[in-house]
Amino acid sequence: MVEHGPRLTLIRQLADGQFHSGQALGELLGMSRAAIAKHIQVLQQWGLDIYRVQGKGYCLSQPLDLLDESQLKQLAPSLPAILVKPVIDSTNQYLLDRVGELSSGAVCLAEYQVAGRGRRGRQWISPFGSNLYCSMYWRLDAGMAAAMGLSLVVGVALAEWCEAFGGDGVKVKWPNDLYYQDQKLAGILVEMTGQAGEAAHLVIGMGINLAMPAQAAEGVTQPWTNLQQACGVLPARNELVADLLNRLQQTLLQYEAQGLAGFVERWNRLDNFLNRPVKLLIGPNEVRGIARGINHQGALMLETETGIHPYLGGEISLRSDA
Ligand code: BTN
Repeated sequence: MVEHGPRLTLIRQLADGQFHSGQALGELLGMSRAAIAKHIQVLQQWGLDIYRVQGKGYCLSQPLDLLDESQLKQLAPSLPAILVKPVIDSTNQYLLDRVGELSSGAVCLAEYQVAGRGRRGRQWISPFGSNLYCSMYWRLDAGMAAAMGLSLVVGVALAEWCEAFGGDGVKVKWPNDLYYQDQKLAGILVEMTGQAGEAAHLVIGMGINLAMPAQAAEGVTQPWTNLQQACGVLPARNELVADLLNRLQQTLLQYEAQGLAGFVERWNRLDNFLNRPVKLLIGPNEVRGIARGINHQGALMLETETGIHPYLGGEISLRSDA
């Protein structure tokens, strides 16, 4: 287990966006300037944009607004547990490893994920402090069959949350991405354990680009954007997160009580591809048509030459066919 304490102390010092000399940082941490320089290199690998000016020291290109567990607990008191891990492999994995000990609504957040993951085995690039990496555990008594609908309602909750902070034009993309101006803003990864016929244990992972530095996104393979782009000035990060967690909990409770029924209209209003030409990638096959929203099972309704047909299943990807 690597000890990150000195690096996290360095980050807290640099978070103000001011210059800090190597000597002052060395004195604070009881180490040489050379040792500080090595730690700074690691922080740069974590995606922090730290630069050095001769005679002035180290500085972050932008101040950091760090997550604060006690503040989050105050702002979201109805959640059973909120854990902030500055550095983690994956917030989803953390909760999956502890499913037996958690209550519905337990949350894990990180500033940096070493092995953040996306759907289809892809990596989720997770630079330190600039985005949100958040997972919530939920026990779904209705079982695995209800999980597909759940991931759609999470998309609705996220898009409505963006709108609440001025993000007009933030949209959902079936089954579970957020888009702004046809670029990806956030991704949702729902992972589950459980037996058929029993309650499903879900971990809902959300990766939301807030202010992703361009250099950190070099490995991102599709067009992407930031919430800052969609909303302009954002409120303090802890307020933003607490509002998201509160909304998500309310949304999941509502889904448990009513199923998808209350969400179809909300989804269709927010649907990025409603009435637009799309293609569905289903294994090696492609089906082209016009997207006509979702039905009460959460299936994508696709209009082809033969009529409007429902498409459902985790193996289907949707692409624009403009
Ligand atoms: C996608 O492929 O679009 C889904 C991305 C989900 C990323 C989030 S970040 C928090 C949580 N932890 C992970 O390892 N992945 C999810």
